[in-house]
Amino acid sequence: MENIHPIFDTILNRRDKEKLLRQHSIVVWMVGLSGSGKSTLARAMENRLYAEGYMTQLLDGDNLRTGINNNLGFSEEDRTENIRRSAETAKLFMNAGIITICSFISPTREVRALAKSIIGEKDYFEVYVNAPIEVCESRDVKGLYRKARNGEIKNFTGLDAPFEAPEHANVEVRTDLYPLEDCLEQILRPLYEKIKFSNT
Ligand code: ADX
Repeated sequence: MENIHPIFDTILNRRDKEKLLRQHSIVVWMVGLSGSGKSTLARAMENRLYAEGYMTQLLDGDNLRTGINNNLGFSEEDRTENIRRSAETAKLFMNAGIITICSFISPTREVRALAKSIIGEKDYFEVYVNAPIEVCESRDVKGLYRKARNGEIKNFTGLDAPFEAPEHANVEVRTDLYPLEDCLEQILRPLYEKIKFSNT
């Protein structure tokens, strides 16, 4: 009997799931100011990959802050906890073979290092969604810059809370200079190399 290892006792691993989905999983971590275009790009990326037969999951700061992170604010400490939980969540999806697209401001080197260490260096694909703060503020899609200027919101990233621009992102896109489609291509080109299925 000791030589019998029934299949239901075997835990399926990430490679098994990747094989099923015929893709390699990864975490795409989108970094940038509020209004830089992270979530718009993340949604466009997900739609494109879905149309091409890839299995994806989107994790977005605004959405996760209504659920798993609903007890967190925007102090340095809370942002760190927000990123920690979000990165752990991303890792669960990644380990299920899913291409996980994360959209969080991730304002400091420290929180990005934390995300990278949780996910693992080779599975963390950082995208810096860059637009000057004046452009983000002029877009003011959610009206939050105006509120922050009026003092209705404190610790607003880029105004009275820090944003340290990433220096070693895998890709940097300038959403103020190039249309969405071009930015998306710039991200997808190196990403395909990572997610393309191979049996090795
Ligand atoms: S992070 O700093 O912890 O990475 P996260 O991406 O989850 O931030 O959430 C940012 C979103 O919360 C913004 O897109 C914006 O809609 C909203 N928000 C509300 N208050 C703030 C604030 N003080 N600073 C930045 N974003 C805020």
